Amino acid sequence: MMNFHVLTLFPEMIAGGMHTSITGRAMDKGLITLETVNIRDFAEEHRKGRVDDYSYGGGAGMIMQAEPVYRSWKSVADRIGHPVRTVFLTPQGRVFNQRMAHELADGEDLIFLCGHYEGVDERVLEEIVTDPVSIGDYVLTGGELPAMVMMDAISRLVPGVLSNSDSAVTESFEDGLLEYPQYTRPDIWHHKQVPPILTSGDHARVDRWRRDRSLERTFRMRPELLEKVQLSPQDRKALSEIRVQEN
Ligand code: ADE
Repeated sequence: MMNFHVLTLFPEMIAGGMHTSITGRAMDKGLITLETVNIRDFAEEHRKGRVDDYSYGGGAGMIMQAEPVYRSWKSVADRIGHPVRTVFLTPQGRVFNQRMAHELADGEDLIFLCGHYEGVDERVLEEIVTDPVSIGDYVLTGGELPAMVMMDAISRLVPGVLSNSDSAVTESFEDGLLEYPQYTRPDIWHHKQVPPILTSGDHARVDRWRRDRSLERTFRMRPELLEKVQLSPQDRKALSEIRVQEN
């Protein structure tokens, strides 16, 4: 069970994305819940729904004001009633990965604060944010897509969300390696045959073949990941053969 609470200026963007496909089914089943809170609803009375203002010190771009963000957060935090992790989506945060997804999937409630415009007043961030998170080294127009990326990755770790309980453990990153290539019918397509081992019925050889392809892909695409993986003697042998082929 996981309850997501998203503070945003674009609630319909979050709701639309999350009600689709596997996350949508998980909500129908009650395994995850989604509450979107429109920060604009917490604008200060005299500002007529506006929640941004000019940057002190000058410079282009508007800044989201502290008070509406704080009020929207407090409306959620008070209802939850105990301390809850609050993620702020920002390129200045720790870079999101599968380990963080597991760590965040452990709790019952998560609040996401999505910034927009050029930024959010630092003072409110100091008071409410527990986890500043980036989804990668590029700049987006707002925190909504990153929040959806995180909620998607976290949702599929919530028990019952994936129909085949195996599929969460055999995938890329769960064992520190990239996933092996997969095939389905027909066995010949565009003159390309499925690797014969996969149709041999020899499960031990299939497992070894898949492990070798995982090692090979990781070596070619993401060699830095290999430094953190536990390798068996057979893995080392396979890797040395792959390295030889490379030269
Ligand atoms: N907001 C804008 N760009 C972002 C990124 N890369 N990660 C998280 N939040 C962001």
